[in-house]
Amino acid sequence: MKNNSDFNYGMIGLGTMGANLVLNMNDKGYSVAGYDKDQKKVDQLNAEGRQEVKAFNDIAVFTQSLETPRAILLLVPAGHIVDSVINDLLPHLQKDDIIIDCGNSHFTDTQARIATLEPKGIHFMGLGVSGGETGARFGPSIMPGGDKQAYERIAQMLKDIAAKANGEPCTAYMGNGAAGHYVKMVHNGIEYALMQLISEAYHLLKKHGEFDNEELADLFTNWGKGILQSYLIEITGAIFKQPDDNSNEMLIDKIKDSAHQKGTGAWTSQDAMNVQAPIPAIDAAVSQRILSSMKSTRVQASEKYKNAHVIIKASNKQAFAHLMEEALYAAFIITYGQGLAMLSKASAYYKFETDIATVASIWRGGCIIRAELLNEITKAYRNNKNLENILEADEFISKVKTNQNALRSVVQTAADQHIPVPALYANLAYFDSYVSAWLPANLIQAQRDFFGAHTYERNDKEGIFHTEWNQKIQ
Ligand code: 6PG
Repeated sequence: MKNNSDFNYGMIGLGTMGANLVLNMNDKGYSVAGYDKDQKKVDQLNAEGRQEVKAFNDIAVFTQSLETPRAILLLVPAGHIVDSVINDLLPHLQKDDIIIDCGNSHFTDTQARIATLEPKGIHFMGLGVSGGETGARFGPSIMPGGDKQAYERIAQMLKDIAAKANGEPCTAYMGNGAAGHYVKMVHNGIEYALMQLISEAYHLLKKHGEFDNEELADLFTNWGKGILQSYLIEITGAIFKQPDDNSNEMLIDKIKDSAHQKGTGAWTSQDAMNVQAPIPAIDAAVSQRILSSMKSTRVQASEKYKNAHVIIKASNKQAFAHLMEEALYAAFIITYGQGLAMLSKASAYYKFETDIATVASIWRGGCIIRAELLNEITKAYRNNKNLENILEADEFISKVKTNQNALRSVVQTAADQHIPVPALYANLAYFDSYVSAWLPANLIQAQRDFFGAHTYERNDKEGIFHTEWNQKIQ
């Protein structure tokens, strides 16, 4: 057992994620002291019987057991619990100690905590961790931000415990202030959109393509080896293979069609409006989760509109599946494009100085949105630091040109068959808008000027104009 005051790191919150991160850190040679109010969690970690890991339920003893200046990670639920843990900790800390919040905290909370703690000489860092329980245990993607010198003190440990992609650690400095939590928030926004896209594909394949669970399992498993290679596609293949323990059916058919959310997707949509970044695929995914949760309303409404439409089956299900694969590929590219373009805008707005190539590179492994596609996205940003959107990158132009036809076609089919595909369509509409030299916003400007004298610009000369419109409408 270690002596007092020589554990390298502290971990507060010994739930599954916290305990798994402790074990991961210890596997890589770091000694870690843990703290939790729950004696059961303390006992569980101590029962691992590791020489260089010790859990406490007394915060004073815990903080005294750490080498100084301290580096203490928090893995507790986001929100007021983070503040209450900080308050409990503060009397035991000294100048230059670092607190690293590894939860999904809102970035504005992180900004406020930095502002409160910095004058006390305590470095507060927001750090996003993605990869779920397995990621935490064997290698997550880690998104740290904040004080650069504090980051340097923990950088090697983070690199050691992170997942590796092409031999590179899936962690790097994300930028100033709350950049770490911001990047994790956008990661989750993209996660929402990809999950929604996959569920829309499932809907079309099941109802229009008449794929049963076994066929879906095979299809997604194959897709996981092709252009769509990604963690979310792979787990989808595995999900369709899971039998239900309580019946003779498959588990997927027993799960209520009502999605929950903890908020990170909605936060992404909300802040996209602040930084003026269009992310319609993420917005659609958030709205669709809310609509899905309105189960009883939907059931009632379906009664009122029943027999509105009988779905026509695909004439060639394999050809339809192939089209769906290409459509999803196009939609995935456009979704990553929206999320990363939002990060560029947010970085300028909040002065994070986030390097987008670095973000893409650390999402290649460990995290929920890891995908083969991120290798090419990383290359595109590395080749052009000023890239506004991957839609404009040479690496993607021909891919999008080819596959957008499939996206268009499945959206048309969905509309004909009364199957809602808001995320697929949001990506198509975003793409069609992004590549449109002309959009009908001249009419919006005319209307604004008509009813509110808000002025407009002209195509043929510089300046700001207002018209006394001839027709008056009462
Ligand atoms: C990750 C996940 C993780 C968590 C989501 C779930 O990257 O490991 O994103 O952070 O599972 O927050 O979010 P919802 O409950 O909002 O779906």
